Amino acid sequence: MAASLVPAPTTNPLRRIAFDLGTERAARSSGIPFPPGLMNFSLPRTRRFSQNPLPILLDCYERFGPVFSLRILHGPVVFMLGPEANHFLTVSNASKFRWRDGSMGDLIPLLGDGLLTIDGPYHRQSRKVMLPSFHRERIAQSADAMVEEIGHALQSWRPGQTIDLYHWTRPLALRIAMRALLGFDPDRGEDLHAADEFEEALAFWGRDYLLQVMRGPFSPFDHMQKHRKRLDFLIYEEIRRRRASGERREDLMSVLLEATDDAGEPLSDREVRDHLITLLFAGHDTTTSTVTFLFYELLQAPDALARVTEEIDTVLAGRDPTAEELVSGMPELEMVMDETLRMYPPAWVGPRRSVESFEFADTAVPAGALVNYCSWASHRIPSVFPDPDRFDPQRFTPERKAALPKGAYVPFGGGSRTCIGMRFGQLEIKTIAAMVLQRFRLELDPDYELSIRMMPTLSPKKGLPVRVVAVAD
Ligand code: HEM
Repeated sequence: MAASLVPAPTTNPLRRIAFDLGTERAARSSGIPFPPGLMNFSLPRTRRFSQNPLPILLDCYERFGPVFSLRILHGPVVFMLGPEANHFLTVSNASKFRWRDGSMGDLIPLLGDGLLTIDGPYHRQSRKVMLPSFHRERIAQSADAMVEEIGHALQSWRPGQTIDLYHWTRPLALRIAMRALLGFDPDRGEDLHAADEFEEALAFWGRDYLLQVMRGPFSPFDHMQKHRKRLDFLIYEEIRRRRASGERREDLMSVLLEATDDAGEPLSDREVRDHLITLLFAGHDTTTSTVTFLFYELLQAPDALARVTEEIDTVLAGRDPTAEELVSGMPELEMVMDETLRMYPPAWVGPRRSVESFEFADTAVPAGALVNYCSWASHRIPSVFPDPDRFDPQRFTPERKAALPKGAYVPFGGGSRTCIGMRFGQLEIKTIAAMVLQRFRLELDPDYELSIRMMPTLSPKKGLPVRVVAVAD
């Protein structure tokens, strides 16, 4: 499949700074400066932003309106917040923005050219190849594997134990994704090895930003590249094995191996690899975090917990859940998940680069600017979601959800680039939550204080320790 893509952003930190400053100069000389905002260089603000961007973003929204600029470290970034802004960026004016040379491009050293880092016709064609694998019926077929994996992972839980839910869910979600996407058997030695390599490579995005920009032997970047190469070796070996044997399985790798482009050409090994790694990356951390935040809030909300537990006990009556029950038979659980994704949308920022200048809310934005929408801050605007810091699943009754303004609720993005794994992720979150709540009564450690890491997705910095109080009757 011919890729006609703009060059990937440089991974050299000095060239990157020079490029960003050049973009700002070009904007100034074009006569369209960056929108008003906090444009002075400020290390304290950069640090506060990297620890918790919400107060700064919401304050700027109050002061400057739905579009404003923030200088983060050396470079200006435009933020657009609120329902209209989200709709503008993801739906009505999506073609004015690119993903590849925005901040998503920083992922290219690990992901290569997958859906998160490509644009235009190549993106459209790649997405078309993969979409059938993410249709409702295909996703429902994954439910059995999910139930099996979760049941297995829950076998060792005992009353009196304290479980770190975040660190328990992470390998579970990775096992489920590796089975569904790569067809890997997580109990086979080399496949287990692939999961470890992937986790080691991913750790790069959890490092401090200043460590991430370092290069050379023993730097975090070097560590990530080393593990990426080992992971690539395992994936390419599997691709070669399948091509040679002609083996076909019910996983996405098989779909990609059989796919052809508009000219009838099959995808190259490299293309198959990039798409698979991108899906693994986009899929397992987001789900893990949502499950963890869901329990963090639910265990502190006795009414919502009672309602959802009663629903699960009534619907399942002691059986394992079916795909149909999970997809549409548990409205209370659905509302709890929706509210969790409002308060903690794991992919909290949608980074783009403007390909042309444009106007939004009577404010001009120059071409070539980094422009972000931010679901996290948008979901906390009080005029859209009153009392936004309160966990209230009843906001998402079907009637109230349908009455939300366009673009108000965007945990999965929107438009032609809406999260392709949305149904898979939702099914997995609900399956894990239902099976845990069906089997155990849990309690949150009363001294636990939530602190949130932002990269690569929102996640609880210190995990989430919960005590298994009892086996459910
Ligand atoms: C709770 C679970 C998940 C959440 C909240 C989530 C959220 C998102 C969001 C917000 C975007 C759009 C980003 C933007 O506009 O900049 C996105 C895109 C994407 N997601 Fe997810 N995601 C989840 C699960 C998954 C899963 C399970 C997979 C794969 C199996 C996946 C694969 C992708 C891919 C490939 C894209 C890029 C789509 C494209 O550009 O065509 N996600 N996701």
